[in-house]
Amino acid sequence: PLVTTTSLLAAACEGKYAVLGCNVYNLETIRAVIEAAEEANAPVILQTTPATVRIAGAEELAAVVRESATKSRVPVALHLDHGKDEATILQCLRAGYTSVMYDGSRLTFEENIARTRRIVELAHAVGVPVEGELGPIGGREEGGIDVHPIYTDPDEAARFVKITGVDSLAVAIGTVHGLYQGEPHLDFDRLRRIYERVSVPLVLHGASGLSEALVRRAVANGIRKVNVGTEVKLRAAEAIRKVLVDSNEVDPRRFMEAAKEAIKAVVAEKLAWCGSVNRA
Ligand code: 13P
Ligand code: ZN
Ligand code: NA
Repeated sequence: PLVTTTSLLAAACEGKYAVLGCNVYNLETIRAVIEAAEEANAPVILQTTPATVRIAGAEELAAVVRESATKSRVPVALHLDHGKDEATILQCLRAGYTSVMYDGSRLTFEENIARTRRIVELAHAVGVPVEGELGPIGGREEGGIDVHPIYTDPDEAARFVKITGVDSLAVAIGTVHGLYQGEPHLDFDRLRRIYERVSVPLVLHGASGLSEALVRRAVANGIRKVNVGTEVKLRAAEAIRKVLVDSNEVDPRRFMEAAKEAIKAVVAEKLAWCGSVNRA
């Protein structure tokens, strides 16, 4: 069934595991993630960035996810990832997204609070939960801008959640979007302190490129949603490239099938690292 992230993340807090938030782009990626979740008997969050919404359409994405989620044995949520403007967020709310993120992390603290609060009012009016971000998280953002990370301050995080009313919070503890150059260094002490001060579920962005040990340690220290994007794209592209180089295949159903199998393998691995297998 299609559900909001509220119930998924509440159950994760209760069971002390994380729900995977996996970026999807089109029909095949949506199907791949849901099938992997079904095979693992795990809840899952499908998420699309504003760029994906521009390319594929919020209504189209929501229609496909709604249909697949309704038929699915596991609970599935549809989430807007890194929403940055009110128009896109409203479009997703109207289309039937069951969760939205407002990312005001590159604004000043006060401005981030004011704008996030407004989005929370809009989304809560239609029963949809909101993920906020206090950082920013570093790495390359869509549009090719490199963002310098600012680690989340535990006291600011507590104030931010209290004033804005967000339902979950993305924190900056050393992860970056995209892959890592060298070993990632995550500040687990900071995560622990944020977890102790903040009452809502915490979200780890930038999980592509992290080892199993680091993801598991993040979950053990309070992370309840783990976002993966880049690795899904990389593994899908690799699989498609292999088919096209090794054969004269021209049928998109065939090379997309290869992509789908590759995505299912990444998702199965991350669901296990999140501890969400058999939690559906
Ligand atoms: P990665 O691309 O590093 O997996 O990050 C995904 C993410 O944070 C989506 O919001
Ligand atoms: Zn992110
Ligand atoms: Na990453």
